[in-house]
Amino acid sequence: MANHPDLLVGTEHGDDAAVYRLDEKTAIIVTVDFFTPITDDPYEFGLVAAANSLSDVYAMGGKPLVALNIVGFPSELAVEMLGDVLKGGYDKATEAGCLIVGGHTVDDAEPKYGLSVVGLIEPGKEVSNSNAQPGDVLVLTKAIGTGIITTGCKQGITPDAILKNAVAVMAELNKGASEAMMRVGVNSCTDITGFGLMGHLRGMVRGSNVGARIRVADVPVLPGVWELLEKGTVPGGTFRNMAGVKDCVDWDDSLTEEQRLLMCDAQTSGGLLISVPESKLDQLLSELEASGVQTRAVVGDITAENPGRIGVSP
Ligand code: CO
Ligand code: CO
Repeated sequence: MANHPDLLVGTEHGDDAAVYRLDEKTAIIVTVDFFTPITDDPYEFGLVAAANSLSDVYAMGGKPLVALNIVGFPSELAVEMLGDVLKGGYDKATEAGCLIVGGHTVDDAEPKYGLSVVGLIEPGKEVSNSNAQPGDVLVLTKAIGTGIITTGCKQGITPDAILKNAVAVMAELNKGASEAMMRVGVNSCTDITGFGLMGHLRGMVRGSNVGARIRVADVPVLPGVWELLEKGTVPGGTFRNMAGVKDCVDWDDSLTEEQRLLMCDAQTSGGLLISVPESKLDQLLSELEASGVQTRAVVGDITAENPGRIGVSP
């Protein structure tokens, strides 16, 4: 495991990105993320993949500076589609104020796209996933259920309007949410992606040595998700996530299988999960609103009891 006095955040707690100090005023945030298409539209794929890759810098409280494209693409599709994927990535990076300065492409049977991003932060200002404090409140900035919706899309049963809305949510940068939390000063943050709400919260409670409580009724859910769940639409990754958190989640007996699966749904480009002292909650909610963040849900809190565990109630 990498260890160095200037490595402020390394691999210890499975944080969103590494943070390396260059001097007293400057640290770089370094991260990489890429995945396979979530919809049939190559431009939208580019938008969402770039928003997702940039999100790890935002989760640390940083500003993305430069990025490199990472592309795997079948050569027979590359000519007609790759340009649109890269255009989506370019447009999203531009919105973030981040320059794409190069990249690398390999021939690959299944398309893949993402970015390696370098961001900036003042040393000591970085927001890790391992400093949540008892008494903190947990705020989530996007509704969940994108894994279920995109799986339903592959099955051909997600209504167009439902998919369109989910793509817009996935393509939304976590920039405003990140800037809001940095204006307020919060204890801990992570973004919700492939391991789902429970999986990423597990990283936070373990890294911070605290417990957490989540109320299912307070967790925002994208439109159309419950209907798809009732039809049995669940991504493979979501089942794996649920098995993966078995050792640390205490589900209330009254919770249905669907509710439990949803709390573990593998997200693409999900929101920030922010752990904020209760005394600063109102300030955070108003700063999020001022930043144009539509979803500002108080979903639970942090406890001294049951360190490393998550209690989930209806
Ligand atoms: Co992350
Ligand atoms: Co990531």
